[in-house]
Amino acid sequence: MSGKVHVMDHPLVAHKLTILRDKDTSVKDFRELVSEIGMLITYEATRDLPLTTREVETPIAKTTAPTLKGKKFAVVPILRAGLGLVDGVLRMVPSARVGHIGLYRDEETLEPVKYFCKMPKDVAEREILIVDPMLATGGSADAAIGFMKEYGCTSIKLMVLLAAPEGIARIQKSHPDVDIYCGAVDQRLNEHGYIVPGLGDAGDRIFGTK
Ligand code: PRP
Ligand code: URA
Repeated sequence: MSGKVHVMDHPLVAHKLTILRDKDTSVKDFRELVSEIGMLITYEATRDLPLTTREVETPIAKTTAPTLKGKKFAVVPILRAGLGLVDGVLRMVPSARVGHIGLYRDEETLEPVKYFCKMPKDVAEREILIVDPMLATGGSADAAIGFMKEYGCTSIKLMVLLAAPEGIARIQKSHPDVDIYCGAVDQRLNEHGYIVPGLGDAGDRIFGTK
């Protein structure tokens, strides 16, 4: 069975994505929106975190109330554009550790090339949320998930802002155990492997490099 695709069905996400798509949105606004949407998708991606209970004394009475079970969590951005989402995830899960995978897409072959990797020591015991704004051909996410599995990780989710149907199909085929959380699913890829209508090059827009 393939992994599930959870598409955010929320007016705030839809509204913010439209501003992101706008080619005239400034680098400052783009960066802030990526972080905000990241926070909102994290809300959905953490919906199944296990809870336990603890005693708490309110100003009125003692009670037993829910608290996170303390499952270990790590967010893994795919460099560079994935960095733009880390802050939003950490605002929701402040105790998360952060691992980094550096990949860039070879512009000719569209295949990912790895240039950096640094993980928390106990990463294999953690729930992993890989983050990247764009799931286009799926090559980068496919490789990143593969690396995390080589580290021994068994619970992996992928969070993106925009996904192309081609990328979703690739991940569902290579990694049927991985659920995808995304802001929206766009129409297709163009001949350069860009998502249509998309938002352009996410890394360049976050870091202002074009
Ligand atoms: C972009 C994006 C993804 C990748 C998606 O990164 O952030 O990592 O492309 O494309 P794919 O699904 O076809 O692999 P890019 O390679 O442009 O590097 P950058 O983050 O450094 O800009
Ligand atoms: N990477 C991007 O940044 N944008 C796309 O549309 C495809 C890959």
